[in-house]
Amino acid sequence: MTVIAEAALDLGDPQLYSSEERFALWREHSAADSLVWSGPGSSPRGFWSVFSHEACRKVLSPTAPFTSEYGMMIGFDAEQPDNSGGKMLVVTDGEHHTYLRQMVAPFLSKAMATTLGEFIEEEVRASVDQALAAGSADVALRIGPSLPAAVVCEVLGVPAEDRERLVELTNHAFGGNDSAFDKMTPSEAHSEILMYFYELVSRRRRSPGDDLVSTMLADGRLGPRDVLVNCNNVLIGGNETTRHAITGAFHALSTVPEALPRLREDPSLLGKAVEEVVRWTSPAMHVLRVATEDVELNGRMLPKGTPVVAWLPAANHDERVFSDPRAFQVDRSPNRHLGFGNGPHHCLGAALARAELAAVLRVLAERVKEISLAAPPKWMRSNLTQGYVGLQVDLH
Ligand code: HEM
Repeated sequence: MTVIAEAALDLGDPQLYSSEERFALWREHSAADSLVWSGPGSSPRGFWSVFSHEACRKVLSPTAPFTSEYGMMIGFDAEQPDNSGGKMLVVTDGEHHTYLRQMVAPFLSKAMATTLGEFIEEEVRASVDQALAAGSADVALRIGPSLPAAVVCEVLGVPAEDRERLVELTNHAFGGNDSAFDKMTPSEAHSEILMYFYELVSRRRRSPGDDLVSTMLADGRLGPRDVLVNCNNVLIGGNETTRHAITGAFHALSTVPEALPRLREDPSLLGKAVEEVVRWTSPAMHVLRVATEDVELNGRMLPKGTPVVAWLPAANHDERVFSDPRAFQVDRSPNRHLGFGNGPHHCLGAALARAELAAVLRVLAERVKEISLAAPPKWMRSNLTQGYVGLQVDLH
């Protein structure tokens, strides 16, 4: 049965997601297949929300009359559009989206993941060994962030001599406001990164290489600003989510002590375990779309221009699709999670994210006997990213 309701709470309020009470909220709404209206607040004109696996899939499906071009997160809508719409991959639709996707895809592909395999494995070994030597670590600060930042630098063709600076800036930019990185605010760090990309674009115009920036420039159809916003898309896409999936892998493994021995004894479980980490952690918390025509959703007609939010962790905890959804099941199968989204904007970096997570699980299974939480996780205050400000673990 679908429940259509006015939210008692503004579902865009980031405070709602900084405690584990959010799981009960999502469970209730996905079980009822709710369609919920949040009035003006976190978003100037308000928005509708869907939660069930089926409703989220429907809104994101390739044939659904919805667009991302006004923006894909709470705060944007037809009257307050994202100014990167129609230029940046994730907020572009139609032919130009296909064109951008085809150009960027080879740099984030399975083949690229294979090429970077050894690099990824070495990075993981170094950070796990460091944590093992210390016996404990704050994974959210010390392990989760570094690998995704390093991989994005590789993909974007950041020269080796600039990498350390870029990884450090990325840590500042995505560490969240309450993070322990105190040299600058996240938005100052993000601006510095954009300035750096601006320089990198100029450098690649003078002396092109075989990297993503040079490829985007060589085509001639994209101006420097288009290249810049798409570098930013890869930067955000590659960092903001993956760091929390990696951190969450440690958290998930701490809840099921037999998971690591099972992975050690049967490495063929690795692929399933990676999918389960993505489902269980669901770092991309919501995606927003705007109706391109009047559309019926969960029994209600919504007029053209209506913003609708799909809550992906709620869909990934839908009991109709996932048995005992809060449990981390290392061999869960089938696992039709929506952690990477669905439809035309399905995560382009999924192969890289999977390779990073597989390396983390493999190295942990090889080297670590047991992971235990030294303190309860500290959650980010965000409506966009489900992630950790702190995850203190002991490694044995
Ligand atoms: C798109 C999740 C890792 C690059 C998306 C979307 C989701 C998502 C849900 C769809 C957004 C929408 O429908 O509006 C995740 C998760 C990750 C991850 C959970 C890690 C566990 C990565 C990585 C990269 C990346 C490692 C690149 C290095 C992108 C790009 C898009 C995208 C470029 C836009 C695709 C398009 O619009 O066609 N991601 N992502 N992501 N992601 Fe990821």
